[in-house]
Amino acid sequence: MANRAGQRRWLQRQEKDEYVKRAKVDGYRSRAVYKLEEINERDRVHIRGKMIIDLGAAPGGWSQLAAKWCQHKSDIIALDILPMDNLADVEIIQGNFTDNNVFEQLIRCINGREVGLVLSDMAPNISGVSSVDQPKSMYLAELALDLARQVLSKNGNFVTKLFQGEGFDEYMRVARACFASVKTRKPQASRPQSREVYLVAKGYCGNAA
Ligand SMILES: C[S@@+](CC[C@H](N)C(=O)[O-])C[C@H]1O[C@@H](n2cnc3c(N)ncnc32)[C@H](O)[C@@H]1O
Repeated sequence: MANRAGQRRWLQRQEKDEYVKRAKVDGYRSRAVYKLEEINERDRVHIRGKMIIDLGAAPGGWSQLAAKWCQHKSDIIALDILPMDNLADVEIIQGNFTDNNVFEQLIRCINGREVGLVLSDMAPNISGVSSVDQPKSMYLAELALDLARQVLSKNGNFVTKLFQGEGFDEYMRVARACFASVKTRKPQASRPQSREVYLVAKGYCGNAA
C-alpha cells in the first residue's frame, strides 16, 4: 500500500512539474535535460569535436541534448542498465556499469577515440535509508570518475551527480587533484528537497590523486 501511495504521489508531482511539461513540449525524453542544459550554459562543459560518454543515460534526455550539441560531428556513447530507445548518432550499451565486463565493453567501444566529456547521471534505486543509499550512490560516482580518469583527453571535462553525505568531501579532494577546476552546481531543475548536486570538473590534467 505504501508503495502505491508513493507511486500516486510521484505521478501527481510529475503532472504538476514545470520541467516535465517543458520536456514534453520540447520533445525531450526526460526533465533531467534541463539540468545539463543549465550546467553547460554556465560552465561550457561540451568540447566541440570530441566524443561524449553518457553514463546512466536512460531514458535519454542528456543524450538527446549531447546529440544536439554535436550535430553529427562527434560520437556519443550512452550506457544504462535499463533498455533505452534508439537515438540518432548515439551508440547505446545496455549493462550494469558496476559489472567489470560492462566497463571493459565500454572501453572497447571507445576504442581510443578522443573523449572530451564524461557525464554521469547514474543514481541507484533510492530506499530512503541514507546509510544504504549514500554508499551506493558514492560507488557509482567513484566508478564514473575512474572511467573519466581512464578515457578523458587532456583538458577534458567531467560532470557527475553526487549526493551530499558521507564520502562527499573525499570525492571532492580526489577530483580536485586531477582537474584544473572543480565546482558543485545545483541546477534549477534539481528538486530542492533532493540532496543531489552535480560536480562539474573541468580541465583534466592527469592522475595526480
Ligand atoms: C536519473 S536517471 C538518468 C536520466 C538521464 N540523464 C536522462 O537525461 O534521461 C538515472 C539512471 O541511472 C541508471 N543507473 C543506475 N544504476 C546504474 C548502473 N549500475 N549501471 C548503469 N546505469 C545505472 C538508471 O537505470 C537510470 O536510468
